[in-house]
Amino acid sequence: MGTGIEKQLATGLKDKDREFIWHPFTPLVGSTENLVISQAEGARLITEDGQVIIDAIASWWVNLHGHSHPAIAQAIAQQAQQLEHVMFAGCTHEPAITLAENLLSILPGNQSKIFYSDNGSTAVEVGLKMALQYWHNQNISKSRVIALEGAYHGDTFGAMSLGERGAFTTPFWPYLFDVEFIPLPTGDAVDESIQHFKDILKSGQVAAFIFEPLIQGASGMREYAPEVLDTLIELAREHHVLCIADEVMTGFGRTGKMFASDYLNHKPDIICLSKGLTGGAMALGATSCTAAIQQAYLHQDILKTFFHGHSFTANPLACAAANASFSLLVSEECQQHIKRISALHKEFKQRLSGHQGLQRITHLGTILAIEIKSDEKSSYVNEARHRLYPFFLSRGVLLRPLGNIVYILPPYVITDDELSQVYRTLEELLEVINEPT
Ligand SMILES: Cc1ncc(COP(=O)(O)O)c(C=O)c1O
Repeated sequence: MGTGIEKQLATGLKDKDREFIWHPFTPLVGSTENLVISQAEGARLITEDGQVIIDAIASWWVNLHGHSHPAIAQAIAQQAQQLEHVMFAGCTHEPAITLAENLLSILPGNQSKIFYSDNGSTAVEVGLKMALQYWHNQNISKSRVIALEGAYHGDTFGAMSLGERGAFTTPFWPYLFDVEFIPLPTGDAVDESIQHFKDILKSGQVAAFIFEPLIQGASGMREYAPEVLDTLIELAREHHVLCIADEVMTGFGRTGKMFASDYLNHKPDIICLSKGLTGGAMALGATSCTAAIQQAYLHQDILKTFFHGHSFTANPLACAAANASFSLLVSEECQQHIKRISALHKEFKQRLSGHQGLQRITHLGTILAIEIKSDEKSSYVNEARHRLYPFFLSRGVLLRPLGNIVYILPPYVITDDELSQVYRTLEELLEVINEPT
């Protein structure tokens, strides 16, 4: 814990933060005070007043190799002294070219081009627009899009339209375009979901099908089987529907394989990436597609151009960070970390299974989630989060529950001891919940 001076400094910063800043996904009333983080290393965050907190959710699922990784820091610093940014229309640069090559070397073999943007939402916007214009450029009229109930694809209007009509989007419903939602194909809903999918496909009007492969993140780490997704993609293919995998959360080893799409026999046409792309150090999005998709844009007519781009498209600093992260990711050491975390999660899942305080426990690769029994409906706005978040923080662990769903999704460098501390905190919570009142 910090000295009196450090505490004073932290208080001063918190006051200014409250005065000047509006934070994301943060109710202005009733929220826990923001932590002032002054430093971070590995899986540990250090607050301005000296508290050490384990980042068990990889800072919103972005961090792979630990905070302030020296190799990534050095790559950014070097790049900043050489070329910090240049517009990406009419110009190109080595970091972006190397990154495209790197990404295509690990993406499913049918992917052939990389389009850069800034974050997960824009990677999805690009994927959707690419798919819709693919049909437009061929003068084929197809206007419908299929997504999964419970989906979360980001906060821009297109991405919101593709997502669950829920708490995050209620004020905007009148402005969101129509999307056909099928039930998440899991448990009893598999047959109904496939049937509903087939019924919509029959119209011949479907342009694209978008999904978070194998596991939906923001709606509560809800898993579904690769075999069912394979069936859906196969059906989509038969009906000439483009398939878009939103791998913003699942990419770069999160699910135990490099991409969740690696669990599938039928590969998506378009893949959206962000979060772990730069190892969590810089904002960057990338959308990959097959050669066939780009083919529809190869035209003399300027109106067949893909008119999409952001000022900071393929920012060299972000690409340099991503290339440094790539080298770390493909190393034997990192792949061993992913296996180690997965094995530890598996053991922990077994230890907890059957616990009476639990509604559900999910494990996929480096992701583990528990749904705590609640009298209220399980959802992001479940009141439990108000009690859970401070409970974890008071024990030095940053876990940000999705309502009554608590998940661990750590940087891959988290140590066994740190992970044990996170598990112990969860077990302690379950003991407290089960104590007679
Ligand atoms: C699957 C998925 N897609 C898209 C996004 C949006 O990414 P970003 O927050 O970088 O815009 C997220 C963010 O959590 C996500 O989980």
